[in-house]
Amino acid sequence: MTKIRAAIKGIHGYVPEYILTNAELENMVDTNDEWITTRTGIRERRILKGEGQGTSVMGAAAVKGLLEKTGTNPEDVDLLICATVTPDMKFPATANLISDKVGIKNAFSFDVNAACSGFIYTLVTAAQFVESGRYKKVIVVGADKMSSIVDYTDRQTCVIFGDGASALLLEPSEEDQGIMDHIFQSDGSGYIHLHMKAGGSSYPPTHENIDTREHFVYQEGQAVYKFAVKNMADVAVEVIERNHLKPEDVAWLVPHQANMRIIEAVSRRSRVPMEKVMVNIHKYGNTTNATIPLCLWEYENQMKKGDNIILAAFGGGFTWGSIWLKWAYDPS
Ligand code: UT7
Repeated sequence: MTKIRAAIKGIHGYVPEYILTNAELENMVDTNDEWITTRTGIRERRILKGEGQGTSVMGAAAVKGLLEKTGTNPEDVDLLICATVTPDMKFPATANLISDKVGIKNAFSFDVNAACSGFIYTLVTAAQFVESGRYKKVIVVGADKMSSIVDYTDRQTCVIFGDGASALLLEPSEEDQGIMDHIFQSDGSGYIHLHMKAGGSSYPPTHENIDTREHFVYQEGQAVYKFAVKNMADVAVEVIERNHLKPEDVAWLVPHQANMRIIEAVSRRSRVPMEKVMVNIHKYGNTTNATIPLCLWEYENQMKKGDNIILAAFGGGFTWGSIWLKWAYDPS
């Protein structure tokens, strides 16, 4: 019997209009354009402004564009999963809010939280539903409003993050294309280096922990950097090698956009040259769950049916992993 694979049949992204430049950050914290560009590769990032505007606003814009572009009737969607660390509310899931905003009525929806690896974990989770043969149209959203949890007095973190969303459609395919293999890993002891301490069940919100700025991202940059380079590169190489691919067989490497130096290190270690690495960190910074699908959206017209694509991510948890997929359509 032919194996059913989950193939990506369309992708669409959304970034908010407001551009936060390095020059504007120079007026907010003790930093400068030279430091930010040489240490991170980031020149600007997008920020979602406006009262009551949460992650679902961006996710819904991405999904609406995806439905239009792929000619998909929202009522035919079976499942929508959203990867996010910045849900609109603790509950209900942001995925439910997105589905409601775009008229997806005959589906179930839920969120996945695996920090910066959330999108790749969610893509493989969604693929299982498609591969089971029971679900025909599954949408995966990666979306984060990082500006809602970033401390704009902390120069080490506030220069890195931005807001954005991107969504893709998975459908069953009997051709040998789609999600082919993955390796995922996590290590909870890494939480000490990267977390948001308060606001959850261990430290519910108090006036005091708001005053001590514990509702913001806490990151020990150097420690995270070392783990990110090693684990992201190792796992990408492992996926490539165990599937008997050579670096020259890889059409595109799509690393999580956390730092340009990490992206370059993953390219070097995997021996996939930088001209085959998708990069948009200079424009959007680290949008957490949206980095990889925003890259796929922006490079959509450069990918061809059958292209071998390697996704790799590392993030809070720690969580990390890599996916090998075969692109399922030619540019329109
Ligand atoms: O997506 C989830 C996973 N996250 C990551 O992968 C992020 C990994 N980490 C990083 O990308 C980098 O560690 C950072 C970009 C966060 C920081 O870069 P770094 O090269 O590791 O800088 P550092 O923390 O070692 O700091 C070097 C210096 C320090 O000054 P001194 O002590 O040498 O005088 C910092 O205080 O740079 C200073 N510094 C800054 N200076 C200007 C830190 N942030 C800034 C800033 N502007 N924004």
